[in-house]
Amino acid sequence: MLRQLLLLLSRSHRVKDVVTRMPVSSGLVTRYVPGEHTEQAVAATQVLADDGLFVTLDFLGEDTLDEAQAEATVAAYLDLLQALGSAGLARHAEVSVKLSAIGQALPEVGAKLSTENGRRICRAAQMVGTTVTLDMEDHTTTDATLATLRELRKDFPDTGAVLQAYLHRTESDCRVLAHEGSRVRLCKGAYKEPEEVAFQERHEVDKSYVRCLKVLMAGSGYPMVATHDPRLVKIASALATRNGRTPGSYEFQMLYGIRAEEQKRLADAGEKVRVYLPYGDEWYGYLMRRLAERPQNLSFFLRSLVSQ
Ligand code: FDA
Repeated sequence: MLRQLLLLLSRSHRVKDVVTRMPVSSGLVTRYVPGEHTEQAVAATQVLADDGLFVTLDFLGEDTLDEAQAEATVAAYLDLLQALGSAGLARHAEVSVKLSAIGQALPEVGAKLSTENGRRICRAAQMVGTTVTLDMEDHTTTDATLATLRELRKDFPDTGAVLQAYLHRTESDCRVLAHEGSRVRLCKGAYKEPEEVAFQERHEVDKSYVRCLKVLMAGSGYPMVATHDPRLVKIASALATRNGRTPGSYEFQMLYGIRAEEQKRLADAGEKVRVYLPYGDEWYGYLMRRLAERPQNLSFFLRSLVSQ
């Protein structure tokens, strides 16, 4: 119930207005989002890289409503990529991009504009020696995002895909994408989806995740196992071994601020671990999805809100 409510609130502009008046330094926000600016994101990346972790950075921004806003997001990514290159971090860090933030939802021009903007970000990433992964958003955008992925991979074959285990279609999408050179991040899925397209019960989502993992680990692509779930991490390791994979032919991914000790433990044990690091002032939707995953954090969040 609470999860559904938080996911609904993640789309509420009214609540967003109230919540985003809090300074970003408030404890819970900085736990998940290390800062609003490029310099803070690069500094946080450096700390993680020094700890032997890899990073994928997300400049927060969703529901872009006009071309100027999309252009500003592209400019932020270009600035970030240059900064990562200058700091010597391109080997340790790539970027994750939401197509909705670079124009996908704009009427008529959306598909073409977001693909073209994606191409500009991929080119900038390639120039500094790193890669791009396209985040996956709600199910109404899955086909369009996969179409853009196919287009971008013609010139930038290392562009990463994201698939969400809660969608009924995903096992079949995994089969299509488990080919040589194909980087695929598998996550459970973070949006409120109807039962016509998505599993609703946790155990059903987990079972689907395992079926999808089996396909990806047995295939010849590069699986990126994005979960904090200890059971799924264990299953992924076992499947990797069973399929003759060694660390580096797949990787684990977790979100910044979640199970940081486990991230370090896996890296120290020789696994490749990448941390998803979001930054920017549009942190509201991201934060609400994280609270929906763990409503226990809500009381802490409300306390920090009223103590401002
Ligand atoms: P689950 O939610 O069952 O959590 C397992 C355990 O992890 C919990 O018991 C708890 O210990 C810990 N945990 C999880 N969430 C926590 C939180 N917020 N605070 C504290 N502890 C927490 N989704 C999407 O739809 N599109 C996308 O592109 C991406 N991209 C993405 C990248 C990466 C690197 C990750 C790790 C995740 C995503 N996601 C995503 C989000 C994903 O779909 C999912 O919502 C979250 O990862 C939570 O699911 P878990 O697999 O971690 O399991």
